[in-house]
Amino acid sequence: MRQSSLVVVANRLPIDDSVAPDGACEWRRSPGGLVSALHPLLRHTPATWVGWAGGTGPAPSLPDIGSVRMRAVPLSGEDFRDHYEGFANSTLWPLYHDAVEQPEYHRRWWEAYQRVNQRFAEATAEAAEQGAVVWVQDYHLQLVPGLLRELRPDLRIGFFLHVPFPPPELFMQLPRRAELLRGMLGADLIGFQRAQAAHNFAQLAAKVLELPATDRRIGVGDRVVRIGAFPVSIDTAEMAALAGRPDVAARAQRLRHDLGDPGHVILSVDRMDYTKGIEQRLKAYSELLASGHVKVRDTVLVQVAVPSRERVTQYQILRDRVEREVGRINGEFGRVGEPAIHYLTQPFDRAELAALYRVADVMAVTPLRDGMNLVAKEYVAARVDDTGSLLLSEFAGSAAELPQAYLVNPHDLEGLKQGLLSALEADPADVTPRMRAMREHLHRNDIRAWARSYLSALDDGGSLLTHLAPTG
Ligand code: ADP
Ligand code: F6P
Repeated sequence: MRQSSLVVVANRLPIDDSVAPDGACEWRRSPGGLVSALHPLLRHTPATWVGWAGGTGPAPSLPDIGSVRMRAVPLSGEDFRDHYEGFANSTLWPLYHDAVEQPEYHRRWWEAYQRVNQRFAEATAEAAEQGAVVWVQDYHLQLVPGLLRELRPDLRIGFFLHVPFPPPELFMQLPRRAELLRGMLGADLIGFQRAQAAHNFAQLAAKVLELPATDRRIGVGDRVVRIGAFPVSIDTAEMAALAGRPDVAARAQRLRHDLGDPGHVILSVDRMDYTKGIEQRLKAYSELLASGHVKVRDTVLVQVAVPSRERVTQYQILRDRVEREVGRINGEFGRVGEPAIHYLTQPFDRAELAALYRVADVMAVTPLRDGMNLVAKEYVAARVDDTGSLLLSEFAGSAAELPQAYLVNPHDLEGLKQGLLSALEADPADVTPRMRAMREHLHRNDIRAWARSYLSALDDGGSLLTHLAPTG
């Protein structure tokens, strides 16, 4: 196997499970922040992507896609259940998101997590050339930096966590907390979305491992591990160009017409996840309909909620509850041909998403907790005429960068209702400067700026950066 000087390691490969008969393979923009963030970067960068191809059983041999070599790591049915659905998505995911659902702790899941992390570390050690830069992504693979350092001390290792890193009171619940921290500390640079997360991590390194730690540096034996905040972003220019295309503008007009040419269109786009605050949002909307503050003929809500992690019980319960509530609201407030909520569970291509963003007068992004939330940034990037109101949860990482949004606490039902009304009734003279300021911020702080700031910190401004096109 050929070796690479930049190796990205992430749970998922960004490609479709199915490879065409001629061996061709397409990038898959699977709904999810990680692929959305890394896809525009790696498209033009010579690199290897080590990850899981979806499905269980032996790893498929995959063709290169553009400049990127795909190296699939196999997962057995048991690994999928105990590592992906278990430790990653039923222990760490809820724990890291404020425990909005109860995290579960099982020894069998921890064993699977160790086993799968070991397999990823070995595959990476094999794929990386001498002295390569390896960039490990997200909570599924927190042990990989430490395991990889043991196998290949010559590598420069980065780790980036896309999700929140919780406060010590929550993290301390984890039965194997010391091992997880030690795993991450195998990296030379640990990146978080928010400064608060880096602070939480430093406190834990000091408390659990008794290491000398500040919010920027942690001493581990004779090494210094740097930590910091690197808020992830989107390909702002690409989304703006897409949204500005005449066919996308025409599609947006058509969508508005199909929605009954209402006065106001509210849009939400989420993975079906209990962290996204979908139920709270529906409740707020339902109460506004009931009180007459919002009227069906004048306003429609489009809720896109693509199913995710579908075998995990908490996700099944959520979907049932959301669908029951959408049915109830439509039954109670809708009219023939005029539902109160247009509910869609399909994945859309980027042009259709851009058209949806263009048609939305108000974008409601109200997670209970979210590492960043790229949907909020995509909406802003798509508003090429500087119109549109973003209703944004204070608990999304993106809120720190987009203070001109209508910020709400999604746990506060009255506040959520008031925020939605303010966004719906906003004066255009107020909307435009807010949107312009957010667009300017995203223009400067796009995905390339993120990669540049992270990789230059990791690689001392090394040669990897020459492949990244300049911002704007
Ligand atoms: P998360 O990583 O938790 O899923 P983000 O908001 O950061 O949340 O990222 C979600 C990504 O998935 C965005 O890039 C968004 O465009 C994409 N996405 C969400 N829903 C859909 C859908 N129905 N079809 C296609 N892409 C989607
Ligand atoms: O960062 C959040 C995350 O887990 C990403 O790793 C991934 O892009 C997204 O959510 C979707 O999740 P999954 O890979 O479980 O479908």
